[in-house]
Amino acid sequence: MKIAHMLLLVLGLASIAFLAFLIVYVFFYRKRVTAHVSKDIESSEHKNDDIVQKEDLIIFQGGENLTICDILDAPGEVIGKSNYGTLYKALLQRSNTVRLLRFLRPVCTIRAEELDDMVLMLGGIRHPNLVPLLGFYTGPRGEKLLVHPFYRRGNLADFIRDGNGECYRWATIYSISMGIAKGLEHLHTKLQKPIIHGNLKSKNILLDYNYQPFISDFGLYLVLNATAGQEMLEASAAHGYKAPELIKMKDANEEIDIYSLGVIFLELLSGKEPINEHPTPDEDFYLPNFMRNAVLGHRISDLYHPAILLSNGRNDEIPVTEERILKFFQLAMASCSPSPSLRPNIKQVIWRLEEIMK
Ligand SMILES: *[C@@H]1O[C@H](CO)[C@@H](O)[C@H](O)[C@H]1NC(C)=O
Ligand SMILES: *[C@@H]1O[C@H](CO)[C@@H](O)[C@H](O)[C@H]1NC(C)=O
Repeated sequence: MKIAHMLLLVLGLASIAFLAFLIVYVFFYRKRVTAHVSKDIESSEHKNDDIVQKEDLIIFQGGENLTICDILDAPGEVIGKSNYGTLYKALLQRSNTVRLLRFLRPVCTIRAEELDDMVLMLGGIRHPNLVPLLGFYTGPRGEKLLVHPFYRRGNLADFIRDGNGECYRWATIYSISMGIAKGLEHLHTKLQKPIIHGNLKSKNILLDYNYQPFISDFGLYLVLNATAGQEMLEASAAHGYKAPELIKMKDANEEIDIYSLGVIFLELLSGKEPINEHPTPDEDFYLPNFMRNAVLGHRISDLYHPAILLSNGRNDEIPVTEERILKFFQLAMASCSPSPSLRPNIKQVIWRLEEIMK
């Protein structure tokens, strides 16, 4: 009798404990999956509670359906982080659309009035190869969110390195290169005042379903304070995209973008990552670091991925030849010239790309 009672008691306690555990687990799990963009932002910035601004949403072409609630309630997944902010892939539930949200840390941005002017300027830029700004939200504590479309195939850096055969197709390499060049041409020559990208790299090229490239982050340094801009420049140097002559972000000009473009072309050709292991180049023989061995070895086949030459598809109107690959390589190297005045400008880059396929 006594033992049976004990057993009941133990079983009862055990099931109560289990139930309690289940409740706690479900509670925390639910909390975790429903972390929304606004929560993520609050938890990353507690310090600025004293600054109170008004909440505001500026809408640009294509962002007509955005509302503040929809943006802040969107379940978000962090897909990138940097000193100055966080990038989210977020599902806006009312319209059931996926958007890219870029949160900028309040301490890293320029003063509010200048920032609004700059954002209005960036928000008006539209081109088939540039990531548009759809909306700009300012929160009560000075937090800033930029809203962009989301691109299904991710960024060019991942595309080049995920080994998918598509990235060795000449037709793809060529059309991506031309697309990036056209986007950059728009920034450099088609606006009232040219915009320097300032941080061109394969991670900042997004690809849609058809591998059409869209340049993101252009002019972003313009909304960052000098310290944050400088940190962006150092990151660009460490990853091998920074032109050797550029020391201060405020001196950024068209030539530094051309240098970065040349590095991206080399990356597309070689499939290699342009990590800069030795940031000081030889004085008499300068090369983007990651191409040095290939060029010094005088082996043409080291300059590009061998799969490219074999990549002619049945539908490729203009087949790849070694001559075309070498012309493209020469254009990339000219763009990466150590002397800014020897680099082609963006119109010349496009002209030379067209020449390659004639
Ligand atoms: C806005 O929403 C309406 C209806 O939900 C839709 O038809 C329209 O295409 C949307 N516009 C944009 C720019 O997303
Ligand atoms: C600029 O941004 C940095 C972070 O990158 C921050 O630490 C600093 O306080 C900001 N303000 C100024 C005036 O530099």
